[in-house]
Amino acid sequence: MGNESSRADRKFRVAVLGATGAVGRKMLDVLVERRFPVSEVRALASPKSAGVSIPFAGGSLTVAPVTEAAFEGVDVALFSAGSGPSRAWGPIAASKGAIVIDNSAAWRMDAEVPLCVPEVNLAAARERPRGIVANPNCSTIQMLVALAPIHRVARIRRIVVSTYQAISGAGAQAVDHFRAQSRAFAASEAMPEGPIAKQLAGNLLMEWKRDASVGYQEEELKMIHETRKILGDPEIRISPTTVRVPVINGHSESIAIELERPMTASEARAILEKAPGLRVMDDFAAGLYPTPLDCDDRDEVLVGRIREDLGNPGGLMLWVVGDNLRKGAATNAIQIAEGLLLG
Ligand SMILES: NC(=O)c1ccc[n+]([C@@H]2O[C@H](COP(=O)([O-])OP(=O)(O)OC[C@H]3O[C@@H](n4cnc5c(N)ncnc54)[C@H](OP(=O)(O)O)[C@@H]3O)[C@@H](O)[C@H]2O)c1
Repeated sequence: MGNESSRADRKFRVAVLGATGAVGRKMLDVLVERRFPVSEVRALASPKSAGVSIPFAGGSLTVAPVTEAAFEGVDVALFSAGSGPSRAWGPIAASKGAIVIDNSAAWRMDAEVPLCVPEVNLAAARERPRGIVANPNCSTIQMLVALAPIHRVARIRRIVVSTYQAISGAGAQAVDHFRAQSRAFAASEAMPEGPIAKQLAGNLLMEWKRDASVGYQEEELKMIHETRKILGDPEIRISPTTVRVPVINGHSESIAIELERPMTASEARAILEKAPGLRVMDDFAAGLYPTPLDCDDRDEVLVGRIREDLGNPGGLMLWVVGDNLRKGAATNAIQIAEGLLLG
């Protein structure tokens, strides 16, 4: 009892690396909303942001450049500054005793780094030989929040998924560029230059890094490899196509699954209605299905269009929508910290 109350009273020193970015800012919001018990929050970014003031808990934090000393005494280091900084600073923060929870792709497939979606495999995060836990790719997280509960009941053998991914997934500067593109598109003006490689306004793109040897984008390969690692199922077959759509925030996914035994839509709906982290929005006759605007700034993954696959009897189809900045990144990371430190 004594231990429980001291655990409950404990407050943690938290560092957020990438605090000026799209995910980092959301992490600061989510820490406050979920009342994560903090004694201090250190906002870290690149040297160019040193001294910048960012809102936190009704006040503000002054951004410091990331240095070794910045991780001194830190209990939890939330990283969202891209793979380079994660590779450089992850081991340093871990060596100082912090639990590093990393949003980049740097450590996800490392055999000594657990890859965690708390609703699916929180226990994996308790074994972390490098002191680092990886947050999966945003598209993988929301897909598995919806599919893992079904997989537990009747093993999924194959997933065919097409994504409709928002531009906030490419970072804060890409969002600004997309807004500028949208204004130019509406005014029939020339497209402004910026971080988005081609015109997204009024268009769809597939501009993730390409692996020409297999003909897939890196984003698609992440969905394959990360899904297998998280489910602990190297046999599961996944056929992804990832697409960037002209939506500011919220990724959507059209998913078809094949299972080891036939499952009806009503059985799947009953499983998903009881599953953690999910909200079923599925009354297609009444026009109820989730959209990116429905999930914007919400932590739950939304699922609708749960139906039997007419093209593959026994299989199922679903439509899964999630806030990529929240459950796809910030919220998932903070849920891992909660599970490890407060659970
Ligand atoms: N956006 C999403 O939906 C999403 C979802 C899942 C995972 N992620 C991953 O999360 C990470 C951040 O994504 P984001 O969308 O938040 O990007 P972003 O908006 O571009 O923010 C990047 C952040 O990293 C900082 N940073 C960049 N280089 C740095 C360096 N060398 N040293 C220290 N700080 C540095 C930036 O600081 P300055 O402002 O000082 O440059 C900024 O705070 C990426 O790895 C991304 O793949 C993103």
